[in-house]
Amino acid sequence: MQTKITTNISEAIDLLNRDEVVALPTETVYGLAGNALSTKAVAKIFEAKQRPHFNPLIVHVASINEIEKYAQLNELSYKLASTFMPGPLTLLLPKKDNIPSLVTAGSSKVAIRIPAHPVMPAILQQLSFPLAAPSANTFKYVSPVTAQHVYKTLHNKIPLIIDGGISTVGLESTIIEVQEEEVVLHRVGGLAIETIETFFGKKLIKASNKKVQTAGQIKSHYATHTPLYFGEINDRINEFKNKNIAIISLNKYFEGIEKEHHYLLSIDGDLNQAAQNLFTILQSIDEKAYDIILADEFPNTGLGVAINDRLSRAQVIHK
Ligand code: TXA
Ligand code: MG
Repeated sequence: MQTKITTNISEAIDLLNRDEVVALPTETVYGLAGNALSTKAVAKIFEAKQRPHFNPLIVHVASINEIEKYAQLNELSYKLASTFMPGPLTLLLPKKDNIPSLVTAGSSKVAIRIPAHPVMPAILQQLSFPLAAPSANTFKYVSPVTAQHVYKTLHNKIPLIIDGGISTVGLESTIIEVQEEEVVLHRVGGLAIETIETFFGKKLIKASNKKVQTAGQIKSHYATHTPLYFGEINDRINEFKNKNIAIISLNKYFEGIEKEHHYLLSIDGDLNQAAQNLFTILQSIDEKAYDIILADEFPNTGLGVAINDRLSRAQVIHK
């Protein structure tokens, strides 16, 4: 199957109406979209991505009204949706019967979001169904933030990629769930935790503390082919003296490694800019002839939390 890259959304609409899957831009990362109400289309998503069926998919809609067609919003989740959507937030909600259990991996809850990038809403407005879409990469590889990244791992596996430029957030959505009076955090992502906590007036509870299972928390995810080590850079520079090393950091240079092998995600130390650059830089380093990547720890605030999460799960050694 030849994969075409275009900006013409009518071709995507046509394919989606025929149960095909297409890659679409969002402001977080590119998604591999299909009719969420069609098990045939959803099965094609899992197949193209080589993704195990126990890992559920996020459903994308264009408005809060549409969320209510497929899931139940209580007062607090409604407020969260109206404050942060469209945007890099996903809500995990009790699902209605029209969402196939293949989408949710058998769970009674569905993850839903409204993307802010204009392409998906424009397409959704012309469809009679919502779109299930995981990130448009093969399972476990770094998420795509350009049409070219999608092409790299999915060419010949999908018919079409809509090119909507670079994803401006650059990290997958933050996933939360309202449970009684608490908000549970399932995945850190493109909406900073502090922003939600300020709105909510309380700390979020981490899903792992509540023993809530979240499939996307699989370790070894977002991984480059080049082995990546996270943290303790100076020790590793010593340890790997004879190797070709690439360094990723916010804006710091390390002794013993030439400047050209440092990949700074934001000279100004801006964590939003660093998030936007992260996956592009990981993929471009992966295309060069480095033996290893050493990634620095980022400040653990704002989007730095999600950057550290992705880097720690991209590493070869899990602690
Ligand atoms: O920003 C994003 O969220 C992107 C864009 C394309 O929207 N999508 C994305 O999808 O990151 P994906 O499939 O790579 O990650 C979705 C994660 C799953 O791995 C799982 O952790 C969680 O969302 N998830 C989805 N449905 C769920 C459910 N019913 N219960 C628990 N977790 C769920
Ligand atoms: Mg993914």
